[in-house]
Formats: sequence, C-alpha cells, structure tokens
Amino acid sequence: MAHAHTFEANPHWLPRPPRGALDDIPGEDGWPLVGTTLEQVRDPMAFSRRMVARYGPVYRNRSFGGRSIALLGPEANELMLFDRDRLFSSEQGWGPMLNLVFPRGLMLMDFEKHRADRKTLSVAFKPEPMRRYADALNAGIAARIPQWSGRKILFYPAVKQLTLDLAATSFLGIPFGPEAAKVNQAFVDMVQATIGVIRLPLPFTAMRRGVKARAYLVEYFGAAVPARRAGEGDDIFSQICRATRDDGSLLTVDEIVDHMNFLMMAAHDTITSSITSMVSLLGENPQWQDRLRAEMLGLGLEGGPLPYDRVDELVLTDYAFKETLRLIPPVPAIPRRALRDFSFGGYDFPAGTFVGVNAAYAHRMPEYWPDPDVFDPMRFTPEAVRARHKYAWVPFGGGAHMCLGLHFAYLQTRIFFYHLLTTHRIVPAGKGETPWQYWPIPQPKDGLPVRIERVG
Ligand code: HEM
Repeated sequence: MAHAHTFEANPHWLPRPPRGALDDIPGEDGWPLVGTTLEQVRDPMAFSRRMVARYGPVYRNRSFGGRSIALLGPEANELMLFDRDRLFSSEQGWGPMLNLVFPRGLMLMDFEKHRADRKTLSVAFKPEPMRRYADALNAGIAARIPQWSGRKILFYPAVKQLTLDLAATSFLGIPFGPEAAKVNQAFVDMVQATIGVIRLPLPFTAMRRGVKARAYLVEYFGAAVPARRAGEGDDIFSQICRATRDDGSLLTVDEIVDHMNFLMMAAHDTITSSITSMVSLLGENPQWQDRLRAEMLGLGLEGGPLPYDRVDELVLTDYAFKETLRLIPPVPAIPRRALRDFSFGGYDFPAGTFVGVNAAYAHRMPEYWPDPDVFDPMRFTPEAVRARHKYAWVPFGGGAHMCLGLHFAYLQTRIFFYHLLTTHRIVPAGKGETPWQYWPIPQPKDGLPVRIERVG
C-alpha cells in the first residue's frame, strides 16, 4: 500500500536514485539496513567531525533508508538555502520524513505554490497580530512563573507545558482547559510519529498514534472553520481561516487544516528546545543572567508587562538568544533534494541526490567562531555579524523557506526571559553538565533540573 510519504504515492517526485549512484563520492554506507543512522542519531556533531576528518567537508553517508550527501560550511548553506538556481526541492527533502502526518505544510511545497501559500499565511505574522500575541504571552507567562518560584523544577517538561498552553490562546483562540489539552496531546502524538523508527502505521506504533491524532485534528479544525471565518478572532487559526490569496479567494478547509497542523508542529518543539537551552546556558553563565536582568530592569517597567513596542530594547537578550541558537540549534540539519545535476566542492552530483544542510556543524567552525564552544553573546553585535559570512549562522534556515515564525520565536523568548529574570535567578540543580539528546530536536536527557530562586 502506498503511504503519503513514499515515492509510490508521489509520482511527481524524481525516481529513487539507482543503486551505486554516488559511489564516486567519498564516504561510507555503515551497517546493513540501518546504515550510519544510529551513530548519527547518538551524537550528530561527533559523527560529522569524524566524517570530515576522514573524507573532507563533502561526504556521503547512508541514513534513514538511503544515501545522502553532506555539504558542510557557509558556502554550501548558501547554495542550498538561498538556492538561486531553483535546484533544490524542500518537499522531496522533507517529504519522506514528514509527509505521512504533515502533508502539504509550507516546508512540503516548492517554488510558485509555496510562494503563494507563504504569502497568504504571512498575514498572521504581521506587526498588528504580533502585538496581540505579545499581550497574551505576557499574561500567560506572568501567571505561570510564580508557580515555579522557590522550587526545584524539571525545566524542560515545565516549559513544554507552558508553550502548549500559550499556543491554545495565540494559535487556536481557545482557553487553556480540557479542549486545549486534547488538541495538544494530538500534536504531541503527531510529532512523535515523525521520528518513529517504524515508518508505517502498524498497530501500537508511534506512527499509528500519529495517524490517529492527525485524523482527530483534521476533524477538529475542519469542523471549526465556518465559525472562525464568520468570527473576528485574532488568533492564528482564525486569521488563516479568513486569509485570502492574491485573487481574493479563501484557502480551502483542507488547506487550512494542513497549514495549521504544520504551523503548530513547527512552533512547539523548536520554541521549547531553544528556551530550555538558553536556561541551561544562563545557568552555567550566571554573569549573563545579571547582565540581562540589568538591561531588563533598565526599561523601568516596574514589573508590568513587556509592551510589544519595547521588546526590541532587550538587545543583550537578543544576542544571548542568538548565541543559544548557535550552540544548540533546534533544527540541527535541513534536508533537500537536487532536482537537476549539479557540482560543488569539486564533485558532480546527479539529479535526485538527497543533500543536507548542517547548521550545528557550521555553527562551531573555528574559522568563523573563535573558541566555538564558549558561550559569548557578544558575537552577535551588528559589527561582528557584518564581518561574518551570512550563512555561518542558519538556525532559521535562509532563502525562500526561512522560518516564517522567527519573529514569534523572538517575541515569546524575550517576554519569557523578561518575566523570569526580572524576578528570579536560575540555579542549576542537576548532576554536573547537562546531558543533551540532540536528535531529532535537542532536549536535556535529565529534564534540566533547576531551582528558580527569587531575587530582590
Ligand atoms: C527557535 C525557534 C525556531 C527555530 C529554530 C525554527 C527553525 C526553522 C527552520 C530551520 C526552518 C527552515 C526549514 C527549511 O528550510 O527546510 C523553519 C521553517 C518554518 N518555521 Fe520555524 N523555527 C522556530 C520557530 C517557529 C515558530 C514559532 C513558528 C510558527 C509560529 C515556525 C514556523 C515555521 C514555518 C511555517 C516554516 C516553514 C517555512 C517555509 O517553508 O516557507 N517556526 N523553522
């Protein structure tokens, strides 16, 4: 049976490359069946470093069922992400991983269709709606932090729950409560499915739960569309229901459902991961907590909310967040598929080659980042940024598919740390250094125990 993520179900994809394609590229196929997948998943950075040391910055490996090529470094990032010649397909890169539960999301589209849908969805990320999300985020975050105050908490699950609860208001336009909890659980199940080792929806697998969750959400969103179209809600869902294309037409119900599912997936774990990483790094660097707190208190807001118009004044917080995304990018690698033959780094690649952008590797190249393992937010002053290759830092990707929600991510992060650090300090409470699981989205294996201690 053909499933949505398979070649059989997608006759418009280029056929599978023939066996033996890419034999000329240095690299390895790893173990029978699993290839190099396990080594890559266990420690992606150690794997890339070992491969580069052995084969150079262009190498072949075999993971998740097929051969692919890693092209490392800022020039390669620019080639694939900026994609001046429309050479690379995002749909055919991500499709085998995401199509079963997140078909037709923005990252699963290419070129003209992608551009048109992206433009339609972007209404939900313009300044006016962002202002309203800021109000909701301020209220939700300010209400939650007192519950953590003076306690030792596992930070990762706590902020994951908070992000889900906040999404109920900003994304769905419903209050926290049983309905929001059910929708959220369905998202969690769908995300789990995308990384399940078993790629078919067999009984008792994460994929089966994911496919069922998707059916629930398709029904949930689909049933709600007419009322949202008629209403005046300013949450993301309502806005997308009312959004129009250039010719004035509305998105169909199916399109809305697919875009909403994808947006929620793209937002949840990335925000959760990056806020967790920043808490971990600030825990290890208390002098930076003090610097950020001083900047925040300098706004003179007397403990009130952080207004949307003043968010940009938190310059050091912005640098610290960018430095966090450098060290621990939530999306460490981005797949693409070549639609035509191309050459790079002295090698020729046939049409159909799966290629990967590796943000995590580029972010620690000592040529661009002196002392790459050191947390130093001042790497992101405007002068430092101007002096560096533009594609040395790509946590949000680049080019046509650059993260549509990046301003939302900046907004939530700054409001979160504003409420946390003006009132509290983060004190690490784990055993030594945080143990990270990097695949598929970085998270601390111990949940990141911290004490949230009141200041002042
Ligand atoms: C720190 C948080 C985030 C990170 C690191 C991140 C990272 C990324 C990356 C790397 C891509 C590009 C993938 C590619 O080129 O194939 C992307 C795309 C996308 N992101 Fe984010 N993201 C974050 C938060 C969000 C949020 C909060 C939202 C929604 C509110 C969102 C929505 C999207 C969407 C819709 C796309 C697809 C854009 C397109 O294909 O045109 N992301 N994100």
